[in-house]
Order: sequence, then structure tokens, then C-alpha cells
Amino acid sequence: MTHLDQQFEAFKNESTEKKIEMFEMDGKLFDMIISQQLSREVLEELYNLTNHLRRMGKLKEGLDFLGTLLSHKRAMLYFEQPSSRTFLSFLNACHILGLKTSEIRDISVSSEVKGESYFDSIRTFSSYTDLVIMRSKDKDAAEKAAWLLNTYSNRPVPIINGGSGADQHPTQALLDIYTLMRSFSNQGGLDGKTVMFCGDLRRGRTARSLAYLLERFNDVKLIFCAPKEFQILDDILESLDNKGVKYEVITESVRSGLDRADAIYMTRIQDEHDLVAGESSIIDISKFKLTGEDLKYMKPGAAILHPFPRRDEIATEIDSDPRAKYWRQGRNGMWTRVALIAYIFNLEKQIMGFDVSKVDHLR
Ligand code: NCD
Repeated sequence: MTHLDQQFEAFKNESTEKKIEMFEMDGKLFDMIISQQLSREVLEELYNLTNHLRRMGKLKEGLDFLGTLLSHKRAMLYFEQPSSRTFLSFLNACHILGLKTSEIRDISVSSEVKGESYFDSIRTFSSYTDLVIMRSKDKDAAEKAAWLLNTYSNRPVPIINGGSGADQHPTQALLDIYTLMRSFSNQGGLDGKTVMFCGDLRRGRTARSLAYLLERFNDVKLIFCAPKEFQILDDILESLDNKGVKYEVITESVRSGLDRADAIYMTRIQDEHDLVAGESSIIDISKFKLTGEDLKYMKPGAAILHPFPRRDEIATEIDSDPRAKYWRQGRNGMWTRVALIAYIFNLEKQIMGFDVSKVDHLR
């Protein structure tokens, strides 16, 4: 273990509060590493910013203006794991704001294969750019990068976590919350709603990050629906207990929770994390899929979400049901990422000051 590894180990054991402080700059979000960093106030601000950006996106002059805001900055996308949605939506989000981008998508072409330490790689890459967006197999990689730059670099650049192992995916949670808030905007908002998670909740980083964000809402109830092998881990349940959030853990079938759920968040089995190849395939998940038949057990105003990619957890016949929100959820991802980057670079006032009155309100 190097001296840096030892110091990081000590940081890793710090409280969540202490980490959140380290990921801030001048009292404001700087690195986006874990979803516990996002307060209700910030979520509301990002929600309004995203709505405004989406209206600007309908105007040529709106897009032209956005394209000038960060045209003097550069971003790097460092994606070590497969990604299409997250990668492309971040890339396009950067381009909307005028950021120039560079990328590494295959670690085998990086000097890490020559024996360079992760810390040295990050310090080098970050010195070329003004923002690093990353996805990695190692659950600590984004946290490590943020810690290193905030501790040792005299030019720290923000780090955004685009998925850290089986642990967290805070920007997916952000777009999920945005989609939920919009879906319930004419049903009194997300407060008081019941959200059911279904699928691989043990290794599903999107479900884990979203559970943390839902703690920010009043009187929400969470239902975790999965076979026991894929159930949500105790760290999430402990956090919900500490915040006094009600939840239910069910292991029978998706059907058994449908009548109570205002939102259903489906996920796929994350078998890329199997310790033994094929281990996940021996667990019966047939009762944890949504079929066309299930639609009649759902509330009429329910919202069905999925971070995608999907396998067969949601039958394609559901796609045309008005309760299916997963296509717009994907598109929302790009705009919530524009909002997050703009927020980190303190552009909220300039954006909100842009007149969008000639654009209709969003559907
Ligand atoms: C998710 C991920 O990578 O964690 N995908 C995404 O970012 N939209 C979910 C998944 O791969 O199942």
C-alpha cells in the first residue's frame, strides 16, 4: 500500500457528512459522487433549472446561448465500463453547454496497463480538462479521484460519478427523481407517494442511489420487491430507518405490490457482477417481471420507470401505455445532466434569466 492508498483508506472511513463537505467548494456542490449530497433544496433547484433548459432547448437562440456558456472549458469522459445512455447523454449535455470533450472508454489503451497507479492517471488526465465524468468497476474510483484532487491538486476539477461499481449512480437517480417529480406534478407532487423497486436491488446502483434521494421527500413509502438473493442491502434500510422513512420488503412477486405503488421502478439483473459465472441465472425471477396483464392491477395514475437497458423485465406491449415513462426518462437524462453541470459551474442565474416565454409550458 502506498502512502496515498493509506490516506485514502482513512478518508473512506470518514462519516458521510464529512465526505459531503469534502465534495463541496465554497459551500456548494462541486464533485457529484454520492446521491446523499443532494438536499431537497438542491433537487428543487435542479428540477426548475431542467424545466427551463428544456424550454430553451426548443429555441435556436436558446441553444445558441447555452453553447456559449462553457465554450472556454473542456471535459473528459473516462468510462471504464460499458455505457451507451449515460455516456451519450453526458457527451451531448457537455456539447449543449459548449464544452469540448475528450474520452477514454477502454482502459487497455490507458497507461494504467503499463503499471501507472490510478492516482497518477487521474492527476494527469484532470490536468488537461476542467471536468471529469467517470464510470468505473471499482466502487471507490470516483470518490478516490475527488479526494485526490481536493487534497493534493492546486487545480482541482469537479468529478462526476457516472456509475461506481454496484454502489451508486447519482446522476441516474437525479434524472429518475426529475421524472418522478414531473410525472406527479399534477397529482400533488412526489411527497406522500409510494415507490416500488423491483429486480436486482442488491447490485442495482441506480435503485440504491434513488432510495437515498427519496429520503428527501415527505411521507414517501418505499417497497422493495425482489427474490431474497437480490434484495436491497441493509445499509439502505438503515439509512431509511434513521430518516424515519417507511418501507416494506416483499419477496413474492411484482404483482403483490402493484395495487399500492404510485411508481414502479423496474431494474434488470446485474449479472456482470456475478462471482461465479451464471450464478444469477439459477435464481427464479419470473415473478418479478411486468407483463401486459399486470397493467390492470396498477393505479391509473401510476408511473413505470426503468433506468435501461432492459431485458424482458417489462413486456414491450406496455411501451404504449401512458403510464410507461421510461422513454421520456431517458431523454430527461440529458437535460438533468446539463442542469447539473451548469449548477456546478454556477450558471443558474444566467440560464434562468433567459426569456423562454414564447415557448409553451412543457407537457
Ligand atoms: C444502469 C447502470 O449502468 O447502472 N444503466 C444506466 O446507466 N442507465 C442500469 C443497468 O445497467 O442496468
